[in-house]
Amino acid sequence: MNPIHPALINLPAPNTTFASDNSAGVHLAALQAIIDANTHHALAYGSDSWTQDVQKRFKELFGAQSESFIVWGGTGANVMALATLLQAGECVVCSDKAHIALDETGAPERALGAKLLTLPTNDGKIRPEQISQLSSLIGVQHHAQPGVLSITQATELGTLYTADEIRALTFEAKKLGMRVHLDGARIANATAALGGTVDTLRDFTVHAGLDVVCFGGTKAGLAFGEAVVYLNPEHARRAKYVHKQVNQLPSKMRFAAAQLSALLDNQLWLTLATHANQMAQRLYHATKDISGVSYPHAPAINGLFPILPRAAIEPLADWCKFWDWDESINQVRWMTAWDTTEQDVDRFAAGVRAILASQS
Ligand SMILES: Cc1ncc(COP(=O)(O)O)c(C=O)c1O
Repeated sequence: MNPIHPALINLPAPNTTFASDNSAGVHLAALQAIIDANTHHALAYGSDSWTQDVQKRFKELFGAQSESFIVWGGTGANVMALATLLQAGECVVCSDKAHIALDETGAPERALGAKLLTLPTNDGKIRPEQISQLSSLIGVQHHAQPGVLSITQATELGTLYTADEIRALTFEAKKLGMRVHLDGARIANATAALGGTVDTLRDFTVHAGLDVVCFGGTKAGLAFGEAVVYLNPEHARRAKYVHKQVNQLPSKMRFAAAQLSALLDNQLWLTLATHANQMAQRLYHATKDISGVSYPHAPAINGLFPILPRAAIEPLADWCKFWDWDESINQVRWMTAWDTTEQDVDRFAAGVRAILASQS
């Protein structure tokens, strides 16, 4: 650990980090839900009333035809969803910024035994013409066949697809016989940013032609627990078996299910995500005019991707932790979370101002 930089030494540090929404604590409602579910014995592997209750809740969100399965984490959710959709001889098509391609230690490739075909994107968003161009691969014996399109909402770069953009992608993918998966590790932040209602969620999922949605809970405020929601019940047929094969069947499932129910109660997932997004806006407005700070784009959700002078990055991150994003252009990532406070943001912005002033 380096000593605190002189420009920051007299400033009160934020009581948080801006490293990740994964670094945040657990919302009390989720902790309370774990305690409340701790009532003597309940059948394991999802044969409990908490799991059945949350599965009903997911049907209310995504429609009576949907089937949901509770899993431990986001990587596992993606692997499970892809494993149920992909067939032998096929590959998964995703963006070159996709978490499944860059940050899952090759888990999808290992579990699926399949290739991930990454498409170049500047902003993490795949364009429909990139899908139609895949038609040149179809039927060619020497190419893995594009079987599943995987998109992320909100993307790894904090950008958003509109419902129409997702519809256009699924339209092109289905023309090629592909299924479509959505990595929704930050689906709550995306929904909050795009309109903040259940209809907003349905518009870019159910009504946009997706087959499977991973609904993130951990970044939204839980200790653990996500849901893999099959919108097309045909794909859910083998999910029950894949669930355990990919090590995502929690035996005491009630404790994940109870947390997810707490998140869905009174739309807590939207309240918390709206707050995280607002804290990102506050940080953006407090820092965007500081000389030396530049933003390629304004934040759409709870992630900011500013470019800073190299010399400012290390002392600032030593004072209040955040991660580099693209070292080649001195771009960093600041993430807010459900528990970020206005005071945290204001203190951090004061630190950014101070470190840059000391170097000008
Ligand atoms: C977009 C996205 N998908 C999936 C994941 C994986 O989640 P987990 O870390 O719970 O495996 C993350 C985690 O950072 C993520 O950002």
